[in-house]
Amino acid sequence: MQGRKINDSVCWMGAVDWNRRLFDSLIPLPDGTSYNAYLVRGSEKTALIDSADPAKSDVLLNQLDGIARIDYLVANHAEQDHSGCLSLLLEKYPGAIVVSTPKAKGMLSDLLGISEQRIMTVEDGQTLALGGKTLEFIHTPWVHWPETMCTYLQEDGILFSCDFFGSHLATTDLYVVDQAAVYEAAKRYYAEIMMPFRSVIRKNLAKVEAHQIKMIAPSHGPVYDRPGFILDAYRDWISDAVKNEVVLPYISMHGSTQKMADHLVGALAGRGVKVHLFDLTVTDIGKLAIALVDAATIVIGTPTVHFGAHPAVYYASHLANALRPKLRYASIIGSYGWGTKAIEQIAGLIPNLKVEIIEPVMCRSCPQCETLAALDKLADAIADRHAKL
Ligand code: FEO
Repeated sequence: MQGRKINDSVCWMGAVDWNRRLFDSLIPLPDGTSYNAYLVRGSEKTALIDSADPAKSDVLLNQLDGIARIDYLVANHAEQDHSGCLSLLLEKYPGAIVVSTPKAKGMLSDLLGISEQRIMTVEDGQTLALGGKTLEFIHTPWVHWPETMCTYLQEDGILFSCDFFGSHLATTDLYVVDQAAVYEAAKRYYAEIMMPFRSVIRKNLAKVEAHQIKMIAPSHGPVYDRPGFILDAYRDWISDAVKNEVVLPYISMHGSTQKMADHLVGALAGRGVKVHLFDLTVTDIGKLAIALVDAATIVIGTPTVHFGAHPAVYYASHLANALRPKLRYASIIGSYGWGTKAIEQIAGLIPNLKVEIIEPVMCRSCPQCETLAALDKLADAIADRHAKL
């Protein structure tokens, strides 16, 4: 795809990666992604904001054919999906200099071998004149690395936000057209990448909102020409409010935990509580992460393997702990044959979740009336707490 004009001074560049299905060898990308770069031309100087993943360097370099001079290569973020073409660009444009936060300077040098002589650091709020166009650098640490910043084009009100507000979505739409699809992809992105930094994102959101933003141009996914849509979504996701929802990731080996999970889902639904049920043998962990953004409660379901929780439950519990969702309550259900330490193990895996543990329900062998009654009691306890949210 060739570069696409946003206005007379700003052009989208970069690559749409339709077929990428995994990021960081961890995060599923069901809808691919894009690596957006933006060329900003003033009357005297030209800047390229961010670059592209090294695997797509040929696409970016082709788009730059005919651009004889670039003065500034703005690196909002040192991660390689945005900085990975910088060495090639510095070769192509020998007069260019990289612009980054002081913290990013060492990282760019370490990760990419860029000479520190070719990196200019900018302080928070510093501006750079291009001739009739002014770039303002807004330090926004921890969205999602410590060195991250946004770049604001003052005359046009465009915020180049890099990962902040991004979405992993491959599309030919330059701007948000299918709002529901972008909402889902952006929420997935927030859940997997940004949620652990919710409190610092709140500060950074306030900081960027102090600017008059007419457009948000992230470095993944389509451009927000109506930025209120994504700003409202972020305000909702980072708020302390939780919803009347339960996330129930579980595994069943011989059907006992399955029966318990099914019974609990029915009991909660009957009490007006929405449940997101995830069989961990088939779950897209991105969907699980999305459900964790809003839910008030997590209930983890596990059978017993070698006296402990199933390994897939270990993984899901570790993930939930790392993502630090704003959950208020947690519980555990499951089964065992002759003995189990699953409750203690799972509780030990989620220290970051500042939750009240509601009485777990563990069942020896197959669930009978007594276990089903205990699950009803658990549903009562959850519904009562949710009613007071
Ligand atoms: Fe899209 Fe943190 O890189």
